[in-house]
Amino acid sequence: MQKVRKYSVAFCGGAFGDEGKGRIVDEFVNAYSQKKAKVIVYRDNGGSNAGHTVEFGDKRLALHQLPSGIFNRRATVVLGKGMVLHPEDLIEELNQAAAVAGSEMAKVLIDEMAVLCLPTHRAYEAALKIWQEGGRGATGRGIGPAYADFYLRQPLRMRDLMDFRKEALVSHYRLYKALLKGLNLDIEKILVPVLGKNDPVEVGSEDVFLRQLKKQSQKLGELISDVTDMIHKNWNGNKCAFVFEKAQAIGLDPRWGVYPDVTSSDTTFDGIRMSTEGIIDPDLIEKKVAVIKATYMSSVGKRKIPTLISGTLADRIREDAGEYGATTKRPRDIAYLDLPALTYFAKVGGVNALVLTHMDIVYPDKPVRICTKYLYRNREVSYRPDQEFLLKVKPVYKDFEPWDKSELQQAKNYQEIPRQAKKYLRYVSEAYKLPILLITTGPKRHQTIYIR
Ligand code: IMP
Repeated sequence: MQKVRKYSVAFCGGAFGDEGKGRIVDEFVNAYSQKKAKVIVYRDNGGSNAGHTVEFGDKRLALHQLPSGIFNRRATVVLGKGMVLHPEDLIEELNQAAAVAGSEMAKVLIDEMAVLCLPTHRAYEAALKIWQEGGRGATGRGIGPAYADFYLRQPLRMRDLMDFRKEALVSHYRLYKALLKGLNLDIEKILVPVLGKNDPVEVGSEDVFLRQLKKQSQKLGELISDVTDMIHKNWNGNKCAFVFEKAQAIGLDPRWGVYPDVTSSDTTFDGIRMSTEGIIDPDLIEKKVAVIKATYMSSVGKRKIPTLISGTLADRIREDAGEYGATTKRPRDIAYLDLPALTYFAKVGGVNALVLTHMDIVYPDKPVRICTKYLYRNREVSYRPDQEFLLKVKPVYKDFEPWDKSELQQAKNYQEIPRQAKKYLRYVSEAYKLPILLITTGPKRHQTIYIR
């Protein structure tokens, strides 16, 4: 059996997204950059649907297509083949990141095979929303249609932008124009979101489309290359650390999430193998970590999670934890921790360790409630990735005594955290049969306690 590769760690969302991965990834990039000459931060899935806020000194920036680690000049950030990239948003995000990071900005490389996600895809998604009474609750960033182009074997890739293959770009625009015409819509007039603009903008004519792409090609061209050799050499060498940051979460995966309210990319560690063309075997990554929020879950979209909380407790958590979408600003649904779903996600996702964030979201007048099993017709049933089925199950809960938030926040190490918190963590770890690496006890960087 091959040995695991030292200095490699991968993070995924262990629930339904927005678990606070960004900050943890950032911490590992910084720690690894003290130990190794270089850190490669690799993202293999998703696109501008992702969103998290990272801090750099006293500045904050919402990242979407860029992973964390962008504020570390010893890091090389790679946007992999498995992603769908929106060039206009990416240029805006790179500019915003450079303004914040200055000389600390990481090097950025884009795999030439990454699929383009364009205003045409966003327009098509907007059209589906009009036709399907509100659509599927997607972020409107054109993610589904861009991945669909891959499966229809007609994707445009970053190398088509770099080489400016005009014929392919024109034929793409005309196809989408015809599709929308078939739905009685004029693609030129469809409004689509663009990063950095407050209001959506019209897609515009074929000419406008081409002119914009030409400009983007000139700006991004030098970042686009065949990254496979570089990944191969570094993965097989020992000078460099690897940090993988997945986008979204396993609960949003099209195979394992609450189908059909899922995203379109592989949100598990398997995606790393595909995106790196088999160079990286995820089984050899040392730590494969699922990040979850310790005391609740959040979800944004149409899905109905069995453990949904309604009323004042949900409002309180939403306000205290700022549970509003970083990409869409939508208020997030709040739910109790759902062990049947979460442990299933960890199993199918190849997870071998946990990080629990938001341990400070706890109230003296409320037990910490956790769903331990589902019942259907009075019999215990497992999680299944099917919304219709999940609407029928009845969650069974177990209550834990809340811990004192200020005692938790004063603790400098695991020994010092309140006993109620220790008991809770032990329970979660045993239910998962996985170790907990660290917890966070507040939004600030130093509010982190390492357990192992
Ligand atoms: P899409 O990824 O835009 O196609 O959206 C599909 C579903 O995934 C919707 O329910 C979105 O709200 C959800 N989703 C996509 N990206 C994220 C994320 O980064 N955090 C939370 N939910 C997300």
